[in-house]
Amino acid sequence: MVTFTPGRTVLVTPALDPCRFDKAEVVGADMGQLDLEDGVPPALKGEARRLAIDYLRHAPRRCPMSVRINSLRTADGLRDVLAMLDSGAGPDVIVIPKVESPIEVRQLDELLGGRFPELALMAIIETPKGVSAVDDIAAATPRLRGLIFGAADLSSQLGVPLTWEPMLYARSRIAMAAIGAGLHAIDSPFFDLQNPAGLEEETRRARALGFTGKIVIHPEQVRVVHDALRPSAQMVDQARRVLAQADDGKGGIHVVSGNMIGPPLVAAARRVLASIEIEQALIPIPLRTGSGSGDT
Ligand code: GLV
Ligand code: MG
Repeated sequence: MVTFTPGRTVLVTPALDPCRFDKAEVVGADMGQLDLEDGVPPALKGEARRLAIDYLRHAPRRCPMSVRINSLRTADGLRDVLAMLDSGAGPDVIVIPKVESPIEVRQLDELLGGRFPELALMAIIETPKGVSAVDDIAAATPRLRGLIFGAADLSSQLGVPLTWEPMLYARSRIAMAAIGAGLHAIDSPFFDLQNPAGLEEETRRARALGFTGKIVIHPEQVRVVHDALRPSAQMVDQARRVLAQADDGKGGIHVVSGNMIGPPLVAAARRVLASIEIEQALIPIPLRTGSGSGDT
């Protein structure tokens, strides 16, 4: 079984400028992502693929690294996979965009699993067909460790605004499918780079739906997302009170601070405290620099 966690933030950089490939580690994101898909113009796909493979082959990695390949329903996606097979250089995680069927995920597992036994897969759900098939996709293979919501593509395909309400159904459905299958649920990027308050608000709302992390597209978004995912002091305090009074191993109902607390709420309180411990365990590398200078 592959053991990996994408953590709270996955910092994306187009695979075109090797100086930026280590940015995730430098700014304290939990995972990096070299993008071969929409962040790379068609004319530069070959060059990006070459740079990514070169990096994967030679660079020492202190932070988990993912690669977003092109859709497996495109020639570029197939070229991305063949480049990894031919070179023997693979990332920790391959992120497959625009997944619409579990067959795509299984195919990649069969193609790469023998060569890269530790490889994890994550699927981006960002088309109406993908949303409809999300439960089957979530159960495709044990190598699949997470679902990512892609709001930009979905809103574009639906012809609706990229705002909270039009995206709410898909977001909820993806979070539920991921949690039901025991996968990580990673929320869509937030595209307004000048609006940290909006990013914070969207991250809190996504967390409330069950997402545990977010794709970030700028180094300065990392800290905002980490802060927004952290339970508030009030939540932690209430969780401690619940566990102190109600977690007596006998089950049943207790009254804590005027609230009826039964087993599901005891379990929720345990999760709040566990999430703080997980966060502490997820900070293996102290920040070396400030939060970056406007590049991803
Ligand atoms: C990400 O790929 C998105 O489409 O939002
Ligand atoms: Mg997309």
